[in-house]
Formats: sequence, C-alpha cells, structure tokens
Amino acid sequence: MRTIQFGSSDLQVPVVGVGCMRIKTLTPSEAEAFVQAALALGANFFDHADIYGGGTCEEIFAKAVHMSPSVRETLILQSKVGIRKGMYDFSKEHILSAVDGCLARLKTDYLDVLLLHRPDALVEPEEVAQAFDVLESTGKVRHFGVSNHKPMQIGLLKKAVRQALHANQLQLSIAHAAMISNGVHVNTNEDAALDRDGSVLDYCRLHDITIQPWSPFQHGFFSGVFVNNPAFLELNACLDELAARYEVSSTTIALAWILRHPARMQPIVGTMNPARLKECVQAAEVQLSREEWYSIYRAAGNTLP
Ligand SMILES: NC(=O)c1ccc[n+]([C@@H]2O[C@H](COP(=O)([O-])OP(=O)(O)OC[C@H]3O[C@@H](n4cnc5c(N)ncnc54)[C@H](OP(=O)(O)O)[C@@H]3O)[C@@H](O)[C@H]2O)c1
Repeated sequence: MRTIQFGSSDLQVPVVGVGCMRIKTLTPSEAEAFVQAALALGANFFDHADIYGGGTCEEIFAKAVHMSPSVRETLILQSKVGIRKGMYDFSKEHILSAVDGCLARLKTDYLDVLLLHRPDALVEPEEVAQAFDVLESTGKVRHFGVSNHKPMQIGLLKKAVRQALHANQLQLSIAHAAMISNGVHVNTNEDAALDRDGSVLDYCRLHDITIQPWSPFQHGFFSGVFVNNPAFLELNACLDELAARYEVSSTTIALAWILRHPARMQPIVGTMNPARLKECVQAAEVQLSREEWYSIYRAAGNTLP
C-alpha cells in the first residue's frame, strides 16, 4: 500500500490504518482471517486503545496475529491511553501503568506510537513530559501523539513535552467535516463558520502533524454509516457516479475524498470485513480531481459562501 511520512518522523506508515475497536465482534478464527487479510493488503498499521472492549480488543488482536518477536517486527502498533471510567487521566502514574497494560495485552515490549486519547481537563504538561521521558528511555514507546486535541491543547503539552507529537486522531468524514467547512466559511455569519476545533486542520498541516481521521464512514457520533444510507441520497448519488467512473465502490470513493485532501491524512478505518477493507485500501490508488472533491463536498450538504 502507498505509504506516507508519519508526522515529522522517519517512520513511513500505510496511508490507511486499521482500527481495532470493533475486533471483539469477531470469533477468534474470524479475527485471525481478518488480520491476515489486512497484512496481505499491506495494511500493517493497527490502531488500538486500552479501553477498546475493556482491553479485550488488544488481547484478541495479539492472539489473532500469533504475536511473536518476528511477527512483531512486521507490524506498526499504535495504542491510546488516558480514558478511565468516568474521567480522563493524564497523570504520570496512569499513563505509565496504562501503557504497561497495553504492552502486556498486545504481547509486545514496545508501541510504535502512543496517543493520548482525549484531553484531560486536569492535564499537567510536566506530568505528561515525565511519563513520556520514561516511556522513551525504556524503549516502551517510539513515537508520540494525541487524539481529539485542539491546537492550544497541543501547545500546552509542548510547553513541557520534549518529544515531537506526530499525530492527532480526529473525527472526520464527508458527513462530519466541520474542520474543513469552518475554514471555507471563515468570517461569514453562517453556522458553518463556527470554529469548534481551534483551526486544528491548519495547525496540524503547519506543524507536520498527521491527522488520523477516525470513523471515516460515520455521520454524527456513531450515528451510523452514510454510505448507501437513504438519509444521504444526494451524497450517495454522487459517490455512486464517481464509483462507476473509477470502477471502484462508493466506499472506496468516500475514503478517496479524505485522501485527496493535501494534509496527508491517514484515515483509521473500522471495518472488520476483509472485502470492505480491500475497498478501503483501493482508495489509496484513486486520485480525485478538484472538481470531483468539491462535488462530493457539496452533495453532502456543505455550501460555499
Ligand atoms: N480517537 C478516538 O476518539 C476514536 C473514536 C472512535 C474510533 N476510533 C478509531 O477509529 C477506528 C474506526 O472507527 P469506526 O469503526 O467508527 O469507523 P468506520 O470505518 O467509519 O466504521 C466502520 C463500521 O461501519 C460499518 N460499515 C457499514 N457499511 C460500511 C461501508 N460501506 N464502508 C465502511 N464501513 C461500513 C463497518 O461494518 P463491517 O465491519 O461489516 O464492514 C463497521 O462496523 C476505530 O476502530 C478506532 O480504532 C478512534
């Protein structure tokens, strides 16, 4: 699969990442077949979190891939920590113990990437910095990043954290594209101009932070998939037309729309269906024109001032 540079690091990553949040829905043999199918497609970047399935998703994955030192070398593993029941916790103590939990469940002694999952209102950058220093010096984590963070929150972390923050995992799909539309509508009186993210898209581009769009096929907050959804008739008509033009599926076109953005994003897809994953991977080879990109954008209900 086509690769991109991960943030400002030397790491090259497949342009489509595989999210493992839903792997607990599979039987052990289905999970094994899915992971092997992903690897056969060159999709060796796997996104985890300590909270997915209460930790079981990481365990299921490690079993499915038959984790061993030689298998481990073929994988790029990312996990996220910082969410606890009823709270967020970026304390040094929690970050360190949570990463140890991820490593044990994934049956590995290092993560390629660690992300802080969701901003902790009580964050103390110095504590995060101490935790990251320990994780880096012990070799437990090779690259760092965040998830669901706005620019000022990243700036605050950077006040103390020495390591580069290479990624920001954010919700983005054609049907959830406010981070794009607020820039298009800048300084108008329209609701679309509302900036709820602190111009995170431009900030990430400016600082070479890889945006990892999560839920790239969903609308709302886990409200469902927009592809082939009758509530998105105009959008699907547009996706279908382009799918016919490129001889791919509408799923492929929906992901190609994200990949066409010049921010060099790495969407994290959540399908557990090998055939659908193949359609996602095919998006890496489809280069939409500017006209096509904007036609999809408008068909989703977005306007231009
Ligand atoms: N950082 C965060 O806060 C955060 C939050 C949520 C998720 N994530 C990460 O993002 C990953 C992806 O999230 P997601 O699973 O919500 O993303 P998604 O790829 O938008 O949704 C995947 C789900 O949609 C279903 N689906 C139905 N029709 C589809 C179609 N035509 N094309 C694609 N999928 C279709 C899939 O079912 P099938 O399996 O049957 O294909 C699967 O259940 C997660 O695994 C996780 O790693 C991060």
